[in-house]
Amino acid sequence: MAHNLLKGKKGIIFGALDEKSLAWRTALRCVEEGAEIVLTNAPVALRMGEINKLAEICKAPVIPADVTITDDLKNLFTKSMEHFGGKIDFVLHSVGMSLNVRKGRSYTDLDYDFSLKTLNISALSLHRVLQTAYQMDAINDWGSVVALTYIAAQRAFPDYSEMADAKAMLESVARSFGYHYGIKNKVRVNTVSQSPTPTTAGSGVKGFGGFIGYAEKMSPLGNASADNCADYLVTLFSDMTRMVTMQNLYHDGGFSFTGVSNAIMDALDKE
Ligand code: NAI
Repeated sequence: MAHNLLKGKKGIIFGALDEKSLAWRTALRCVEEGAEIVLTNAPVALRMGEINKLAEICKAPVIPADVTITDDLKNLFTKSMEHFGGKIDFVLHSVGMSLNVRKGRSYTDLDYDFSLKTLNISALSLHRVLQTAYQMDAINDWGSVVALTYIAAQRAFPDYSEMADAKAMLESVARSFGYHYGIKNKVRVNTVSQSPTPTTAGSGVKGFGGFIGYAEKMSPLGNASADNCADYLVTLFSDMTRMVTMQNLYHDGGFSFTGVSNAIMDALDKE
C-alpha cells in the first residue's frame, strides 16, 4: 500500500542489477511512494540490459557511472539535476564487490591489489559520492543518503572475508561525512545493516545457504527480505526521519541483539 511518503522527492539509486537486487526492490517502492528517480550502475553491469526493464516501469533514465571514477559521478549528478530541473533529495548507495572473494582468495591469503579495489568499490565509493555531491551542492537541504551494510562490520563472520573490513569503513564514512553534510545542508547520512538476502552479491559469500538459514533461526522476526528493506529505506528517505543521521541502523529481524535462540539451541541439542 502506498502512502505518498516520497511525493515530490527526487532520488538517485545506485546498484540495481536484476530484480533480486536490494536497489531494484527499493527503486520500485520509491516510485510507488511518489518519488522520481534516476537509476545508475557501472557500465559493465548496464551491458546486461536487465536494468532497462526497471527503467521502463519506473519511467527513469539510466545514467552509467562507475563509483570508483569521480568524473563519472560528476556527470551523474550534473545529468540528474538537468533531468529533475533541480537538486536531489535522496541517494541510495547499494554497491559492493569483493575481488578476493570472487577470485576464491581466503581472508588469510589476500591479494592486496584486489583488496584495494574492493575497498575502493565498496567503501571509499560512498565518500566519493558524498564528496562529489557536497562540492557540487547537488543535494537539497534535509536530503537523505543511505548505504547498505552488513553486521560483519561488528562481528566475525569467517567467509565474509575482506568485505567485513570494507563495511566497517563504509559505516565510518557515513558517520564522518554525516557530520560535515549535516552542518552544511542538514543532509543526513546513515547505513542500514540488512539481513542476508539472496541476491547476486549476497550469494557470492561462501556457504550462503547455511549463512541465511542460521540468521533466519537466530532472528526473532526471521530474516528481513529485500522488500522489507525497500520499505525501511522509503522511511529513511521520507521526511518522517529528518533527525536521524550518522547511524548504523540494523534491519535484521533482531539478529544483532540475540545471543542465542531456542531454534539454534534445539538444533544443537539434537547433535
Ligand atoms: P547486487 O549484486 O544485486 O548489487 C550490487 C551492485 O553493485 C550491482 O548492481 C553491481 O553492478 C554494483 N557495482 C559493483 N561494482 C560497481 C562499480 N564499480 N560501480 C558501480 N556499481 C557497481 O547485490 P545486493 O545484495 O543487492 O547488494 C547491494 C548492497 O547491499 C551491497 O552493498 C551489499 O554488500 C549490501 N548487502 C547485501 C546483503 C545480502 O545478503 N544480499 C546483506 C547486507 C548488505
